[in-house]
Amino acid sequence: MENPLDRRARPSITVLEDPRAVARDAAERVTTVATDVLRTADAFRLVLSGGSTPAALYEMLAGGEARDRIAWTRVHFFWGDERCVAPNDPASNYRMARKALLDPLKIPASNIHRIRGEAAEPDAAARDYESEIREHFGLGPSDPPPSFDLILLGMGADGHTAALFPKTPAMEERTRWVVPNRAPAPPEARLTLTPVLINRARWVVFLVTGSDKAKALKEVLEGPADPVRLPAQGIRPENGPLEWICDKAAASYLRRLTTERGP
Ligand code: 6PG
Repeated sequence: MENPLDRRARPSITVLEDPRAVARDAAERVTTVATDVLRTADAFRLVLSGGSTPAALYEMLAGGEARDRIAWTRVHFFWGDERCVAPNDPASNYRMARKALLDPLKIPASNIHRIRGEAAEPDAAARDYESEIREHFGLGPSDPPPSFDLILLGMGADGHTAALFPKTPAMEERTRWVVPNRAPAPPEARLTLTPVLINRARWVVFLVTGSDKAKALKEVLEGPADPVRLPAQGIRPENGPLEWICDKAAASYLRRLTTERGP
């Protein structure tokens, strides 16, 4: 019997055949949440994940039926994390999204809120990004963190998410919304949203594919709570659903009854 007080008990887990099916399902999720928000709000604030998994999703959003279903000029793009590299560096999360999504959709520059990974001082860049978020949401210096409409996240084989890596200082952060952090693999210097901000989101979706994630996914979803060692466990949105959209390879160790959809 799941402990209702364990907020992880609430996530929905969808297991699909392969990465393409995951991207398709995620594109539908982004589309339905965006169109729903834009029925009553003037803007849809979306936080993009980095890494390689979401590239297929971004390409589907830019090229599939979602292209005509979402009022893209009212969508504002933010990032969950960035590598401390130039925006045209192959390792840049912004560069990947620009090529797969932002350029094809001709998103106006005013709607693109990238993290300045190239800054000489990462801590200053983190504070600047927090200020940009505050300004975008019209918040004052003592206001609580805002709620993004949807945050997309990935997960590494070590259970990290965004640039929240196991046993790193960012996992202890209780005040700041954006901080510098170190990754165990190059590029080591990163900038990341913290759980302080991520957990205020109205909707959080993890996209996880590949057998290399299977062990971590089982530990995160079915193992004992240990968010410092498994940062993805630290993502427990207070204001809305937490969804995991995975392929069979990543979900292959899971015991729990999951929502198997698809072929
Ligand atoms: C990053 C991401 C990171 C990513 C995971 C999974 O900057 O790398 O934000 O958290 O989502 O490492 O990466 P893959 O999708 O490449 O497996």
